[in-house]
Amino acid sequence: MTGDIRHFINLPDIGADTLKGIIKHAHALKAEKFQPPQIMEGLSLAMVFDKLSTRTRVSFDVAMKQLGGHTIVMSKGEMQFGGAESIESTAKVLSRYVDCIMVRMSDDDKLLELAKYSDVPVINGMTDKSHPCQIMADIMTIEEKLGSAQGKKIAWFGDYNNVCQSYIDASAIFDFDFIMALPEDLNDNVPSGVSFTNDAKIAAKNADVLVTDTWVSLGQEGKDIQKFLPYQVNSELMTLANDGAIFMHCLPIHEWEEVSEAVAKSPASVIYDEAENRLHAQKAILAWCLDGAGVKLR
Ligand code: CP
Repeated sequence: MTGDIRHFINLPDIGADTLKGIIKHAHALKAEKFQPPQIMEGLSLAMVFDKLSTRTRVSFDVAMKQLGGHTIVMSKGEMQFGGAESIESTAKVLSRYVDCIMVRMSDDDKLLELAKYSDVPVINGMTDKSHPCQIMADIMTIEEKLGSAQGKKIAWFGDYNNVCQSYIDASAIFDFDFIMALPEDLNDNVPSGVSFTNDAKIAAKNADVLVTDTWVSLGQEGKDIQKFLPYQVNSELMTLANDGAIFMHCLPIHEWEEVSEAVAKSPASVIYDEAENRLHAQKAILAWCLDGAGVKLR
């Protein structure tokens, strides 16, 4: 590794111009998806998971391979990490084998510790606090569908969680209006300075993007969902939104809790474009991270 190590941990740490450049690169890579540039030739990515994943795992794996690189995937229980071996030792050892490490782990502090000791870039594949790679794909999707995120009203429905926090981070960077609709007893969960309402219709009114996530995140099984029922994104809420408004969800959906089947399967729903864009966004994130290691962005 040469130069500064480019970790992709949280959006505010990276800088607006850089993030916009990564998304621009993602659009370009999508346009040439049938002839992907072999910019990762000879490079390896380790992916470490202590939680379940479909999209993050497959999109990073395919992204790296389509660009000519290699991957190794390790899940909890398959490696020494999380048992006797320290994070410091794990980070140092992996850095001797691979060129980049993507990690999905619950504990944000442990991810930061891994990055501190790693000699190669570390990418946040989701913690309990944030999901920046997801929001890069979401912004890319909004740009495809609506031209730009700038000035748009993006309304979030349900609980405050890691995906929501990354939307909050992105709102300042990409200059969109963000409002949360959530149950009254969760008002204290809303970070200071963030717009919120307990009336889902107020959030949906004139929205350009309606977005939600599961009410029960990984590790929260058994949670009472009754109080979230008024926050389901359904046809009634969609009719309040602006013409051409889109519905987004990072997936997986808990059928049909946080979104009605009619909305999820409507023309306004862009959930599968959003999922596909994980692939293109991951390529651009990998390219940015590894640019410091000699991979040149074009
Ligand atoms: N949206 C998302 O991160 O999906 P996975 O949990 O399947 O990776």
